[in-house]
Amino acid sequence: MKTAILSTLALLGAASAFPSTPEEIIARGLIHQAKHNALVSRAEGDLSYAPYNTSCPAGVTDFITTGQALSSNETDYINARMNKIIDPLTNWLNGAGLTYDINQLTSNATNAPKLGIAVSGGGYRAMLGGAGFISALDNRNDTIDFETAGLLQSAAYMSGLSGGSWAVGGFAAQDMTPIWEWMGGARLDENIFWPGLLDAYSYFTEIFEDVAAKRDAGFPAFESQLTDYWGRSLSYHLVADTPGYGRNLTFSDAVRGASSFQSNDMPFPVMVAVERENDQIIVGQNASIWEMTPYQWGTWGPLGGGAPDSSPNGFVDTALVGTRLVNGQLNGTDQCVNGLDNFGFVIGTSATLFNQGVLQAGSALQGYGIFQDVVEDVLGGFSDSRNDVALWRNPFYGWMNDTNKIAQSENVVLVDGGEALENIPFNPHIKPERQVDFVLGFDASADTNSGWPNGTSMYATYNRTINDDTTISFANVPTPDQFVAQGLNTRPTFFGCNSSDVTNFDENRHTPIIAYVPAYPYVFNANQSTFKLEYSAEEYSGMIANGEASTALNGLVSDGEWKRCLACALVDRARERNNVDRSPECQTCFNDWCWNGQQVDASNTPEYEPEINSVPQFVQDKSDGSALIQPYDSGSAQNVFSASFVLAAAALVGAALL
Ligand SMILES: *[C@@H]1O[C@H](CO)[C@@H](O)[C@H](O)[C@H]1NC(C)=O
Ligand SMILES: *[C@@H]1O[C@H](CO)[C@@H](O)[C@H](O)[C@H]1NC(C)=O
Ligand SMILES: *[C@@H]1O[C@H](CO)[C@@H](O)[C@H](O)[C@H]1NC(C)=O
Ligand SMILES: *[C@@H]1O[C@H](CO)[C@@H](O)[C@H](O)[C@H]1NC(C)=O
Ligand SMILES: *[C@@H]1O[C@H](CO)[C@@H](O)[C@H](O)[C@H]1NC(C)=O
Ligand SMILES: *[C@@H]1O[C@H](CO)[C@@H](O)[C@H](O)[C@H]1NC(C)=O
Ligand SMILES: *[C@@H]1O[C@H](CO)[C@@H](O)[C@H](O)[C@H]1NC(C)=O
Ligand SMILES: *[C@@H]1O[C@H](CO)[C@@H](O)[C@H](O)[C@H]1NC(C)=O
Ligand SMILES: *[C@@H]1O[C@H](CO)[C@@H](O)[C@H](O)[C@H]1NC(C)=O
Ligand SMILES: *[C@@H]1O[C@H](CO)[C@@H](O)[C@H](O)[C@H]1NC(C)=O
Ligand SMILES: *[C@@H]1O[C@H](CO)[C@@H](O)[C@H](O)[C@H]1NC(C)=O
Ligand SMILES: *[C@@H]1O[C@H](CO)[C@@H](O)[C@H](O)[C@H]1NC(C)=O
Repeated sequence: MKTAILSTLALLGAASAFPSTPEEIIARGLIHQAKHNALVSRAEGDLSYAPYNTSCPAGVTDFITTGQALSSNETDYINARMNKIIDPLTNWLNGAGLTYDINQLTSNATNAPKLGIAVSGGGYRAMLGGAGFISALDNRNDTIDFETAGLLQSAAYMSGLSGGSWAVGGFAAQDMTPIWEWMGGARLDENIFWPGLLDAYSYFTEIFEDVAAKRDAGFPAFESQLTDYWGRSLSYHLVADTPGYGRNLTFSDAVRGASSFQSNDMPFPVMVAVERENDQIIVGQNASIWEMTPYQWGTWGPLGGGAPDSSPNGFVDTALVGTRLVNGQLNGTDQCVNGLDNFGFVIGTSATLFNQGVLQAGSALQGYGIFQDVVEDVLGGFSDSRNDVALWRNPFYGWMNDTNKIAQSENVVLVDGGEALENIPFNPHIKPERQVDFVLGFDASADTNSGWPNGTSMYATYNRTINDDTTISFANVPTPDQFVAQGLNTRPTFFGCNSSDVTNFDENRHTPIIAYVPAYPYVFNANQSTFKLEYSAEEYSGMIANGEASTALNGLVSDGEWKRCLACALVDRARERNNVDRSPECQTCFNDWCWNGQQVDASNTPEYEPEINSVPQFVQDKSDGSALIQPYDSGSAQNVFSASFVLAAAALVGAALL
C-alpha cells in the first residue's frame, strides 16, 4: 500500500510538472470518474466477467491429473485431427515434386508427418507478423498463391506466446476467421489503452466494473494485478464481435465451441506462460513453462520450479481452474467454478508485458523525458508488491504437500511466456509424447538493438534442454553470434535435420526438425517497437504482408525449391521411420537449408541491420526475380511509444492504485 501511495503521489506530482494538453487533462478526469463509478455499480447477470459457481461434472472427485501422459481429450482430438490432415497434407506434398512415395508416408493417421506451428512473442509486432505467417500457411485465400498455403490445414498443433498468443489464441477463439478479415475488424488504429476521448468514459467504466466484479467474486483483481485490465483491453480488439467484447468469453468455451474445433479442422491450440517463483522478480531460464489449452491448464515442469522431477507436475480442466480445491478435491462443497479462464485473461497472462516493462524500463523507456519517470515509478511500484503478474487461483493447493513447492500458495504466479527468453513457444512441440515431426517457428523477437531476431530464443530452448531439463531433446543450434555471422536469422533455416544431431539424444525419444522462420523486412519495416499499441490500416497491412513474405520468401525462390525443401523437412522423420532412404533431391535441399554444425569466425560481424524492403542474400542467390508482394509505403510508421499511450497507461495504472 505504501508503494501504491508513493506511486500515486509521483504520478500526480509528475502530472503537474509536464505540459498536459487539454485532452490529457480531460483523460485523467474521465478515467478517475470511471473508476469511481465502477465502485458503485456492478456488472450483473450472464454477461459478467466474474467467475461464477456452477455444478461440477458428474462423477469427478479428483480434479488433478499428473502430467505423465497426454490427456485423453487431447489424444482423442489429435487422432481425429490426423485423419483430417491426411488429404490436405497429401495434396500439398504431391505439389512439391518429391520422388518419395507420398502415399506411403501419409498412409494413415499414426504414420503421417505431424506438423506443429509456433508464433513468437513481441507485442502487436509479433501478433501481426505472426498473423501474416498463419495467413501464408492458410489455403483459403486465392488472392496470392503462396507455396506454403495448405500447411495450416496440415498442422496438428499451433502454439502462441505473448504477442503470438494474441495471434494464435485469437485466431482459435474466432473460429479461424481468415486473418485479413479478422484483423480488419480489430480496430487496431485505436490504441489498446486509449479509445479516444469520446469513448473513454464508457470504455473505462466497463473495464473497471468487470474487474471489480471479479474481485467481488473472491479473486485477486482490481488492486492486485494489471493483467485483468490488460486482457480486457486486448479483448476489445481481438474478439471485437462477441457480446460485450468477450466479457464472458472463456478460452475453453470459445475454442471448444468453435465449429472448426468441433470438426477437428483446427490445429490444437496451446498458449504458453511461465511461472515466476514466489518473491522473485527475475524469471530464471529454468522457470516452469505452463500450457493453457482448450482442455488443460498446468505444467509438465515441476510445480514451483526446480530441477525436473524435484516436484510433481499437474493439470486441471481449463474450464474449472477457478474451483477451490484442496488436495485436488472439492473443499466441502459441491460447487465448481467456471469463467476464470476468460479469453482476455488467458492471452493477457501469456503477455504480462508490463512485467518486462519494469525490468527493461531503464532501456526500453529511455528518452521519453518526464514520462519515463512516471512509468518507471508507477510500474516499479507494481513490481515491488508483485502486482505485475497474472494471479490464478491455485488448483494445486494442498496437493502433494511434501514435494509440491506451491502446495501452500493461494495463487499460481504466471508471467509473460517470453521471460525465460524462449520467445518462440517450441516447448509444447518438443514434449516427446506429442510425437511432433516438424515445427515451423516464426520469430518476431526484437533481440538486436534495431529490433530484429538473432536466434536468442532458439539458443535459450536448446540451452534449457542441456542445463535444466535433460528429459527433452532439441535440435542442436549455434549461439546468436553464429546466427548473425552466418545469416541464419535472415532466412528460414532448418535445425536437427539429422535425427541424432539433437541434445540428449536417445533413439527412443522423439524430437522434431525445426524450421526457424525469422521476420525479415521484405516489404515493410517490421521491426516496430513492442510497445507500439496502435497501427493504422496501412501499417497493419504492411506488417501482415511482411509476415506472409517472410514465410513464403515472397515467392522469389525459383524452381519450386522452397516448397520442395520444406516438404523434404516435413516428411523426413516419417521417411526415417518407414526405412526409406533420403532422396538425392532432399539431400541437396538439406545441404543448403539445414544448419550443418558449421562455426565461423564471428569476431568481426557487423551489427545486424537488414535494409528495409530488401531480399536476404540467401534468397537473392536462388531468385528469378518476381516478387508476389510489393513493398508498402512504410514512411509513415511511427516507431515510438506515443505520448498518449504512456499517459493512458500511467493513468490506468495510477487509477487502479488509487
Ligand atoms: C455470455 O453472455 C451472453 C449474453 O448474455 C450469453 O448469451 C452467453 O450464453 C454467455 N456466455 C457464457 C459462456 O456464459
Ligand atoms: C460459490 O460457492 C462457494 C462455495 O460453495 C460459496 O462460498 C460462494 O458463496 C458461492 N458464490 C456464489 C456467488 O454463489
Ligand atoms: C475429457 O475427457 C473425459 C474422459 O474421457 C470426458 O469425461 C470429458 O467430458 C472430456 N472433456 C471435454 C471437454 O471434452
Ligand atoms: C500405418 O502405416 C504404417 C506404415 O505404412 C504401418 O506400419 C502401420 O501398420 C499402419 N497403421 C495402421 C493403423 O494402419
Ligand atoms: C486475401 O488476401 C489479401 C491480401 O493478399 C487480402 O487483401 C484479402 O482481404 C484476403 N481475402 C480474404 C477473404 O481474406
Ligand atoms: C533455477 O536455478 C537457480 C540456480 O540454480 C535456482 O536458485 C532456482 O531455484 C531455480 N529456479 C527454478 C524455477 O527452478
Ligand atoms: C476449505 O474449507 C475450510 C472450511 O470451510 C476453509 O476454512 C478453507 O479456507 C477452505 N480452503 C480453501 C483453499 O478454499
Ligand atoms: C496439505 O496442506 C493443506 C494446506 O495447508 C492442509 O490443509 C492439508 O491437511 C495438508 N495435507 C496433508 C496430507 O498434510
Ligand atoms: C542477440 O540478442 C541478444 C538479446 O538481446 C543480445 O544480448 C546479443 O548481443 C545479440 N547478439 C547478436 C550477435 O546480435
Ligand atoms: C544456459 O543455461 C544456464 C542454466 O540455466 C544459465 O546459467 C546460462 O546463463 C544459460 N546460457 C545462456 C547463454 O543463456
Ligand atoms: C548424423 O549425425 C551423426 C552424429 O553427429 C553422424 O555420426 C552421422 O554420420 C550423421 N548422419 C548423416 C546421415 O549425416
Ligand atoms: C529498424 O531496422 C532498420 C534497419 O535494419 C534500422 O535502421 C532502424 O533503426 C530500425 N528501427 C528501429 C526502431 O529499431
